[in-house]
Amino acid sequence: MNTYLQANRELWDGWAGFHPQSDFYNMEAFRNGASSLMEPELQALQPVAGKSLLHLQCHFGQDTLSWARLGAQATGVDFSGKAIATARSLAEDMSLPARFVQSDVLALDLEETFDIVFTSYGVLTWLPDIKRWGEVVARHLKPGGTFFIAEFHPGLMMFDFDTGKYACSYFGTEAPSFAEEVVGSYANPEEGTTRMEYTWNYSISEVINALMGQGLRLKAFEEYPASPFDCFPNMKPRQDGWFECAPLVGAPHLFTLLMRKPG
Ligand SMILES: C[S@@+](CC[C@H](N)C(=O)[O-])C[C@H]1O[C@@H](n2cnc3c(N)ncnc32)[C@H](O)[C@@H]1O
Repeated sequence: MNTYLQANRELWDGWAGFHPQSDFYNMEAFRNGASSLMEPELQALQPVAGKSLLHLQCHFGQDTLSWARLGAQATGVDFSGKAIATARSLAEDMSLPARFVQSDVLALDLEETFDIVFTSYGVLTWLPDIKRWGEVVARHLKPGGTFFIAEFHPGLMMFDFDTGKYACSYFGTEAPSFAEEVVGSYANPEEGTTRMEYTWNYSISEVINALMGQGLRLKAFEEYPASPFDCFPNMKPRQDGWFECAPLVGAPHLFTLLMRKPG
């Protein structure tokens, strides 16, 4: 297996081990019925009842199960065996009808198409090949189907969250944009274990073109000056409950794309 893929999978298996116990993922509220989904995806994709929905890079399944609670026939995919095992046991415990598949997203071929393909918040950065990702999305969409992504903005990721200084290219590169040791994770920096991570930054046009190159049509594109998650260093809450990185106020923090496969 590719060195980057193997290292990132070990990191995510480790993170999937402690994330369900973190305040960040607040499993108690989730078990009591709270949705883990955010306004951008809820507004873009509802109603989902009765629709088939493929969730790429689903982690331990909170969002997939939240879509299932809203009536979607949901399938979650992730390369972490630990995350998929947790997702399956949560679905069983909570009697929610969701299916979970362990796979590298870039190798995914379920030989099945879906009404909706969804992915969100910290996904593209783990992928070494954005064009192949576009092929995977298109291959799994029905004619007339909808693709939606909410993702951290590449114009934010190119700067250092502590200093606000330039840190990596806005554009995708073959070598990882970052190869670094990380202590704990965004969900619990105190966890203490050090792991290697390899991540990439892709420009907005590279992401859109990976999908348009497969025939998808752009229906809506939004950029946001804040994030719904407090998941990077120096994030400060705003009055609306979202967060902005203190040294990078005014930088784009998030983007969303809604795209359709012609029917
Ligand atoms: C930040 S999480 C996704 C965020 C998600 N919204 C959440 O917090 O529940 C990124 C996910 O991508 C998965 N991942 C990273 N690289 C992958 C790959 N090549 N194939 C499949 N999953 C991958 C990780 O295991 C992790 O679960």
